[in-house]
Amino acid sequence: MAFNLYSCSSYKELSEQVGEHMYSRISRDLLVNSHFDLGLATGNSPKGAYKEFIDFVKGKDLNFSNLHTFNLDQYYPTKKTNDNSFYSEMMKRFWEPLYKANRTFNKNNAHMLDGSTTDPDTECAHYETLIKKRGWIDLQILGLGPNGHIGFNEPGSTIDSRTRKIIIAPESKAAFTKTYDDIAQFGLTMGIGTILEAKEIVLIVSGESKREVFQKLMRMTQPDTSLPASYLLGHPNVALYTDL
Ligand code: GLP
Repeated sequence: MAFNLYSCSSYKELSEQVGEHMYSRISRDLLVNSHFDLGLATGNSPKGAYKEFIDFVKGKDLNFSNLHTFNLDQYYPTKKTNDNSFYSEMMKRFWEPLYKANRTFNKNNAHMLDGSTTDPDTECAHYETLIKKRGWIDLQILGLGPNGHIGFNEPGSTIDSRTRKIIIAPESKAAFTKTYDDIAQFGLTMGIGTILEAKEIVLIVSGESKREVFQKLMRMTQPDTSLPASYLLGHPNVALYTDL
């Protein structure tokens, strides 16, 4: 039980490496299977990698028409149109730039949990079905919360949890207010079980605010619900990129 650890000397280097990792997997599979499902995370950690990935895509002759993206989580309740929404963030940082870099990418294939639904349970079940219909997530990008959460799977989440509505922990809220103005009380998130079904996972741990939780995670040998990212120790193919 171990991660493949990539220690980078700076955030820039980390972003280049993750961007290249994403590009190599996606381009290889699109050429061979013409099919790829990419799990995306919001937050600051993957920002640079998304930019680097899109730089790799520019000028390449690849067909992205069968690339689907699935975002990990969402505030609840929230509106798509809000400037601070995860939807606006992904449109700005990933879907639109990818479309501009390669017009074969279909923005209708960009999936995200609907934070404006009146029926979150049905929305979450529908999201699971959507992923299953495609088969599986080929590569899931993850950030790490200050309390060890992945997605919005806060401490106490179980290994078999599926996509569901959760209460956002106070320490998570405190960290998010630095990035987003409008923080909801709840989140919709892929479950730990859903995440662990991805074929490959890239966990990005960046910045001083993550040092303590990173050190804790590195000392763990067994998954424990007090630090949900430790469930990843049970996955056979996790690359952990850090600038710490
Ligand atoms: C929240 C988000 C996740 C993100 C994590 C880390 O949990 N819902 O998608 O991965 O925060 O965010 P950051 O990378 O900004 O530290």
